[in-house]
Amino acid sequence: MNNRRSFFRKSAALGMGAFGIDSLFNQLHAEHFSNAEKYWKADSNDNEDYWSVIQDAYTASKSEIIILNNGGVSPSPLAVQEALEKYNRAAAQGPSYYMWRIMDKGREPLRQRLAKLAGCDAEEIAINRNATEALNTVIFGLPLQKGDEIIGTIQDYPNMIQAWKQRQMRDGLVYKQLSFDFPIENDEQIVKAFADAVTPNTKIIHVTHIINWVGQIMPVKKICQMAHSKGIEVVVDGAHTFGLLDYKIPDLDCDYFGTSLHKFLSAPVGSGMMWIKKDKIEKIWPLLCNSQPKSADIRKFETLGTRSFPIEQAIGEAINFQEGIGSKRKQERVHFLKKYWAEKAAQIPGVKIHTSLKPEFSCAIAGVSVDGMKPEEVDAKLMKDHKIHTVGINWENIHCVRVTPHVYTKLSDLDKLVGALEKIAKKA
Ligand SMILES: Cc1ncc(COP(=O)(O)O)c(C=O)c1O
Repeated sequence: MNNRRSFFRKSAALGMGAFGIDSLFNQLHAEHFSNAEKYWKADSNDNEDYWSVIQDAYTASKSEIIILNNGGVSPSPLAVQEALEKYNRAAAQGPSYYMWRIMDKGREPLRQRLAKLAGCDAEEIAINRNATEALNTVIFGLPLQKGDEIIGTIQDYPNMIQAWKQRQMRDGLVYKQLSFDFPIENDEQIVKAFADAVTPNTKIIHVTHIINWVGQIMPVKKICQMAHSKGIEVVVDGAHTFGLLDYKIPDLDCDYFGTSLHKFLSAPVGSGMMWIKKDKIEKIWPLLCNSQPKSADIRKFETLGTRSFPIEQAIGEAINFQEGIGSKRKQERVHFLKKYWAEKAAQIPGVKIHTSLKPEFSCAIAGVSVDGMKPEEVDAKLMKDHKIHTVGINWENIHCVRVTPHVYTKLSDLDKLVGALEKIAKKA
């Protein structure tokens, strides 16, 4: 009897997901976060005592290497790691029961909480596995005809460029790609470049919200306003902004939006989200089959086959963690971290920064290069001699090492990066 009661209690707790009183965030971090608030000094950059609590919540802050490629994929805080383990252990007891009958009940509460974070209606949110899946669903699902034109850029993400090229090959669409010389500190210049490329056949503009290669924030809202004034729809790749910049999806004024959740939100690897403006859901074909492909129910995009419900359910703890910090505070901190190292690095002879340091035009990411050295050489030296993990970028007209801190990054780690760049530049 007791065993049965504890079985039902455990099942109920699993079904509640991350949003019950017993959430792992509440168990592991809430008290520390609440104590940390006592250290918070408004309007001050000296909040290291507060941020040390956030750093401690990430096991990656104690890693043997300094991780400065959080733009690729981010680690999760302890609560998210533990949630994933808890759900995996439960699923291993009988996946068809624990995943499909118990954890499955957590999807609708999760949709609600993602929608709250995104500032939209839950009926506009589909949960999936990454930004590629979200955006490919839109790109392949749009009912476009031969001759319809799409405008993107050569600095967009390869998986989306390839998706548009595939549609061009299959359906005879005309895919035009602009090219920008970043950094650009002038929104109007960017909007004008898109506007100048518009023809009567243009149906879609594809915009990457933050250019992953070098961190430029694109003026999405202004591009959308221009596009809508000409009857053009806009697809936004928000992989690098959701969970980092302090905005709500409807603020962007776009029509379609896709993001990963395993970057700045710090959800488990293999989690993503799609947003489609409510009145457009019906016309988008699901990429993976559904019995009601013309339905206006966003859930038609979630027929993904068997996949990991533990990963999906652990997203909830990442939302708890995000809300524990607050989006505005997070954006300001990560921008501060980027500026902290990049301003110092810019003073080193032979070192160049490739990204605007103004908060309107960049946040976490900055590109850096050393005269006379290739990006991959600088990246390799940072790892070999200094145990600092970055990524060398050679994409179209962008050649630099991409450095991406996260909320768990310590100032002392950034000091080490600057010291390492000084040594590398001296020998270059
Ligand atoms: C701008 C941008 N879009 C999309 C993606 C793809 O994300 P995912 O690997 O989650 O599909 C990335 C990955 O780095 C990216 O930088």
